[in-house]
Amino acid sequence: MPSLEEARKILADAGQSHVLAFWNRLDAPARESLLAQIGRIDFAAVAKLRGVLADAGAKAAPAAAAPMEPAPVVELAGAELAAARARGEEELRAGRVGALVVAGGQGSRLGFEGPKGCYPVGPITDAPLFFFHARKLLALKRRYGRPVPFYVMTSETNDAATRAFFEERGYFGLAKEDVFFFVQGMWPALDPEGKVILDRPDHVFLSPDGHGGTLAALERSGALADMEARGLASVFYFQVDNPMVDVADPAFVGFHAAQGADLSVKVCAKRDPQEGLGVAVRRGGRTEIVEYTEFTDAQKNERAPDGELRYKYGSVAIHVFSVPFLRREASAGLPVHVAHKKVPHVDASGAVVKPSAPNAYKFEKFIFDALADAKVCPCVAFDREAEFSPVKNAEGADSPATCRADLSRKWARWLRAAGVAVPLDGRGYPVRRIEIDPAFAFDAASLAERLAAPGAPAEEPAGDILLREDA
Ligand code: UD1
Repeated sequence: MPSLEEARKILADAGQSHVLAFWNRLDAPARESLLAQIGRIDFAAVAKLRGVLADAGAKAAPAAAAPMEPAPVVELAGAELAAARARGEEELRAGRVGALVVAGGQGSRLGFEGPKGCYPVGPITDAPLFFFHARKLLALKRRYGRPVPFYVMTSETNDAATRAFFEERGYFGLAKEDVFFFVQGMWPALDPEGKVILDRPDHVFLSPDGHGGTLAALERSGALADMEARGLASVFYFQVDNPMVDVADPAFVGFHAAQGADLSVKVCAKRDPQEGLGVAVRRGGRTEIVEYTEFTDAQKNERAPDGELRYKYGSVAIHVFSVPFLRREASAGLPVHVAHKKVPHVDASGAVVKPSAPNAYKFEKFIFDALADAKVCPCVAFDREAEFSPVKNAEGADSPATCRADLSRKWARWLRAAGVAVPLDGRGYPVRRIEIDPAFAFDAASLAERLAAPGAPAEEPAGDILLREDA
């Protein structure tokens, strides 16, 4: 921790002396915590962020600038799908596959205080998002005989709460040594003059550095070394907000392996032109994902000659990374994206103000920008009804209500395929509540097997359908 004199010098050199504006009013513990925070902030990085801000002001609509076209998309079917699946199963049986969830974000649109992974989505039991992810890994371990180690990225804000939650819930049945938590970096926000922001008299506002921070955090934390020590060849990457994700889907993992890919991208047809999905494009001979916020309305609405959206496919942030590529990218300098946001700050008297309009710039790195360095990076299409229904907003589209409904509809399809009569409403959603623990069954085939096995629930249940694995 720097002394007061050292802190003054650091701040003066960085043009951030206002951080000590309330020093004379702080008590001893507050002074200590502020000095410690000043010691932790990388002011050289802050100077770079100021440069990013200046450049962003000078540039307009980057996505509009260079010519681009939709990225080619592979639709796996028939023999190709079967071969990819078989290859993925081989990888899983050999213990060469890990899983990584990014769970460091703040869930601000959802308005949920705790780590987003603790958000209850189970239609009957209120099981949290983390439950669905972890239980799929448990199912894979049982099926293929080898663990799929689980790397969970948190941020300073939610790390302790996330670890405590896993501990309380007995790691959802996973072996503790197969779960590796690692913490992403934090960056200050800047006001229009490039000054960091005090959100308390003794504290500089910081927010997570984006899921692009995963790459550096994997190396810093030892998670990457752990992957290498376990002999993992690839890592299945996904976001905490989507409980429908088919974790370590053998076909996707196997296709990635067979292609010798660095980074593979799952895409699905967008629900409508405005849906908030990044879009896979080819530009300058490379595949890129252009974030929806950086796509113009004209680009979002452009039509191909057949009447379909020209940029039809969106990325759902489900990837497979090869481990050697992660190693190469660990020190890659990903570009920094800027967003104008509402950031709480103190006024001249030290009182906290919650602004009603954007007042500051936040900075983030996006993991998919690593595509720029990937030599082989296929985009693979999938059926969104089977795998994608994220919880992002408190209400409306992509909310807990739509996610629970989509989960129930998917489970109803599995049950019907297994011969269970599940009544549906006019829109194709089940009228009863359904919940299936992924450790009981994780796809239609495994459900049919479980229901056919001795000891399975023989009679059709009358009310809710809850299928759980106890152990
Ligand atoms: C994201 C993707 C978008 C994709 C969509 C699919 C970005 C920038 N965009 O949009 O291309 O089509 O999901 O649902 O990601 N996270 C961290 N640390 C951070 C920031 C985010 O771990 O610093 C995690 C969050 O916990 C979450 C995920 O990343 O799991 C996505 O973050 P979010 O901000 O919700 O992204 P979207 O705007 O929804």
